[in-house]
Amino acid sequence: MKFAMAVISAAALPALALASQPNAFYHHAARQASAASSAATSKASSAAPSGSSATSSASAATGSTAATSAPASGATSVATPSLLSINPTAIPLASIVANAPSASTHSITQTFAAGAAPSDISSAPPLPDLSKISPSSYPALDKPPPTDSPEVQQWINEVKNSGVQIPGFSPTIAGGCPANMNAVNDKSRCWWTCGGCTRDTDIVACPEKMSWGLTYDDGPAPYTPDLLNYLSDQKLLATFFVVGSRAISYPAMLQQEYQLGHQIAVHTWSHPSLTTLTNEEIIAEFGWTKKIIKDVLGVTPLYWRPPFGDIDDRVRAIAKAMNLTPIIWTRISATATFDTDDFNIHGGVTSAQQVLQNWDNILGNVSSINTGFIVLEHDLFQQSVEVATGYILPDALAHQPPFKIGPVTTCMNMPAGNSYLETNDNSTNPLPISASAVPTISPGAPGSAQASGVSSGSGKNGAMTTSTSGFAVVLAGLLAGASAILL
Ligand SMILES: *[C@@H]1O[C@H](CO)[C@@H](O)[C@H](O)[C@H]1NC(C)=O
Ligand SMILES: *[C@@H]1O[C@H](CO)[C@@H](O)[C@H](O)[C@H]1NC(C)=O
Repeated sequence: MKFAMAVISAAALPALALASQPNAFYHHAARQASAASSAATSKASSAAPSGSSATSSASAATGSTAATSAPASGATSVATPSLLSINPTAIPLASIVANAPSASTHSITQTFAAGAAPSDISSAPPLPDLSKISPSSYPALDKPPPTDSPEVQQWINEVKNSGVQIPGFSPTIAGGCPANMNAVNDKSRCWWTCGGCTRDTDIVACPEKMSWGLTYDDGPAPYTPDLLNYLSDQKLLATFFVVGSRAISYPAMLQQEYQLGHQIAVHTWSHPSLTTLTNEEIIAEFGWTKKIIKDVLGVTPLYWRPPFGDIDDRVRAIAKAMNLTPIIWTRISATATFDTDDFNIHGGVTSAQQVLQNWDNILGNVSSINTGFIVLEHDLFQQSVEVATGYILPDALAHQPPFKIGPVTTCMNMPAGNSYLETNDNSTNPLPISASAVPTISPGAPGSAQASGVSSGSGKNGAMTTSTSGFAVVLAGLLAGASAILL
C-alpha cells in the first residue's frame, strides 16, 4: 500500500502546537505566555518570506550559543553546541524552523501480508489483516472517547474486577500546579507534574550507566518513515509511544515499526492531561489505544507514557489495573528534565539550536548520574525528525564512551517479547495484574471510588474539554488526508 502523505496542511500544523499550549505549563511553565504569543506570531507570519519571526528567533539563539560552542561544521552555516558528528545529509539548522516548507514525505519501505510472522519475536501471533480494520468502529480522532460504549463499559468492569484499588482523588483542573495547590500539597497523590514524584513502578531511567532508552512520542506520522529509515541504517531500535488516533490513521506504518523490531507502547487515544480526566475517561483513553494497537499488530502493549508526563497515583492505579506500566523520561531536578523540547520547534516556540543546547545539557547531566537515561523526543513533526536524524542521533552515535542505545525493554534487560501481553515471559516478569484477578475491592461507601472503581460525581472537566477540543479541531485538517488512506 502506498501512502499519499503530503496530507498535512502547512497552515494547520502551527495551530496544532498552539492548541497544545494550554497544557504546556506541565513542563514549560515559565514559557507559557511567550510560547503562546510566539506560536501566534509564527502562525500569523506563515505566509511571510524568510526573515520571518521564527527565523530571526532561531538566529538569536544561534548568536547566544555561538560564543561558547565549537565552530559549525559541514552542512550548516550556524554554530551548534559541541556536536561530535552531524549527518552529512542533515537539513541545515537554519532551515529547521516553524515556517519551513513541508519536505516531501517517503512511503514506508515495506508492507506486510496478513498473517506474516513478526520478524523479531518468534512466539508472537501472526500479523492481522489491515483491510479488516474499519475506522468507523473506533472513536472520533483526537477527542477523549465516549465512556458509554459497550467496549468502555467492559473495560470499566475489568478495572473494577482487577483487584486494584483506585484512589478517590478528584481530577485536577486546567491551569497546572498554581491552579491545583491542594493537589500539589497532597503528597499522597505523588503527582509527577508538580514536583517530579515517582513510584517504584515508574520506569524513569535505564539501570545501566551509558545506556539510553531511545523513545519517540505522538506518531506514527508523515515523517516517521524518515526516522525509521535512519534508525534502520544505523541498526538502532527505539520505543514508540503511539497515539491511538495516529495508529488508526497510519496502521501500515505502525506495522512497519513493529516488524522492524521497535517496541510499541501506549500514549493514549487523544493525548490529554490524564489527571484532569475522570476514571472512566482515563479507562477509555487507555482501552482504545490498547485495542487499536492489538488490532493492527496482534499484540497488546504492556507499557505506556503519560502525555505531558501527567501522572499521579490515581492514573497509576488505573493503568496498573489495565496491565500498563509507565515509562516517563529522566528527571534529575526541577531544572534538569531530559526533555529536548523538540516538539516545540514546529510551532515556533523554540529553535532547533535551542533543542541542541537542551540535548547538550542532557549529555552533561548524563555523565553525572549513575544510571542510564530516557529522553523525551517526538516523531509527529518534520522538524523534530530532522533534528533527530541530522544531529542528535549522529552526535549520540559518536559519543565516547559509546552509548548502548535501544528500546526501553532492552535497556531494562528484558527480551523484546516482554513489551506485549501475549509474549511476555510471565515467569521472570510478572504482569501488573494476574490474568485470574478476581474482584477483591471492598464494598466501600455506595458510589465511592473504592466501591465502584470509578470516581463518582466528577463530571466532565470543562477546561480540559476546551483544550482537547481545540487540539481536535486543528487536527481535523491533518487527518482529513490521513483517514482517506484507509478507505
Ligand atoms: C544539566 O541540565 C541543566 C538544565 O538543562 C543545565 O543547566 C546544566 O548545565 C546541566 N549540567 C551539566 C553538567 O551539563
Ligand atoms: C503471560 O500471561 C498472559 C496472561 O495470562 C498470557 O496471555 C500470555 O500468553 C502469557 N505469556 C506467555 C509467553 O505464555
